[in-house]
Amino acid sequence: MRYSKIVGLGHHVPEGIVTNEYLSNVMDTNNEWIIERTGINERRWIDPAKDTVANMAAKATRMALERAKLTEKDIDFIVFATITPDYFFPGSGVLLQRELGLEGIGALDIRNACSGFIYALSVADQFIKTGMYKTILVVGAEIQSTALDVTTRGRNTAVIFGDGAGAAILQPSDHPGILSTHLHSDGRFAEELYVKDPGSSRPREERQPEQILDTTTYKVVMNGNQVFKHAVVRFMEVINEALKANNMKKDDINLLVPHQANLRISQYIQEKMGLSNDQVYNNIMRYGNTTAASIPIAMSEAWAEGKIKENNVICLAAFGSGFTWASALIRW
Ligand code: UT7
Repeated sequence: MRYSKIVGLGHHVPEGIVTNEYLSNVMDTNNEWIIERTGINERRWIDPAKDTVANMAAKATRMALERAKLTEKDIDFIVFATITPDYFFPGSGVLLQRELGLEGIGALDIRNACSGFIYALSVADQFIKTGMYKTILVVGAEIQSTALDVTTRGRNTAVIFGDGAGAAILQPSDHPGILSTHLHSDGRFAEELYVKDPGSSRPREERQPEQILDTTTYKVVMNGNQVFKHAVVRFMEVINEALKANNMKKDDINLLVPHQANLRISQYIQEKMGLSNDQVYNNIMRYGNTTAASIPIAMSEAWAEGKIKENNVICLAAFGSGFTWASALIRW
């Protein structure tokens, strides 16, 4: 039987640090509220003069390749998770392929928001298992900052989201690396967290307004409370689903790497499952919520800190816009 395993992890975050103090100066918010409700101390926002989703993804990829002792030429397929592509179309996969100089290989975009990286990992896992490809680059990269409403009106999202990129390289293995993935969605809640425009089904005059700067429909809109309530339920469900499918118990998990949505969500899961601090990895304090990039950035940092070791069981879990939610169980 042919399985897939992650052989390299990398990440990149932009240089620009946005502190809670900075946000307090441009909108009605404050450091205490942000830390108490979200756990975030600072986040990274891009410099539009030099950062793109694709070039951040390329930097994360190069780190992953170096750690895996591979080169660009080894990659034979790209799966790119993002909801903030550099263009409305084409997708980010082809732009990353161009950045890496890999003309001709297939590139697939996944638009499943915060669950995007696990969806992408699942797709890559199937391609490796069937023998279709042998070195797949799986990326999660986002620029959320340019779609945020950085005024008091948008304060419930502006303080949360950040930019960044993470990458994983998958190759075949005789032993199971990725043990399982479980993917879910419920589109009844699509408008609880979304960016409406440029929506194709809109009247032409609304899709192509003379002046878009004053409209809110191009900005991130979130019903934070609703999202939070669903998130805590779905995170637990999908983690338990993964454990049950693999005949494992919570104690078998060496490290849970949850999507970095809100520190309170991670802490809720940790408490409900009775996991120790060592069993849960969080870096939302430094980067905020980077949507599809959050899990690969967190995994890359956890690996570099020696928290992901040979034979460890790693659990990934995510919830986000769609709603979508997903989990992956991995033996390292
Ligand atoms: O990434 C995947 C999906 N995303 C998530 O999982 C995020 C889930 N949701 C959340 O993280 C939280 O709902 C938020 C952090 C967004 C908000 O926290 P909350 O405890 O749910 O606050 P709330 O929305 O219930 O608002 C409570 C109060 C409101 O004021 P009033 O109406 O009580 O006077 C808000 O206007 O907090 C106010 N508020 C703020 N105050 C200061 C909202 N945002 C801010 C802010 N600074 N940035």
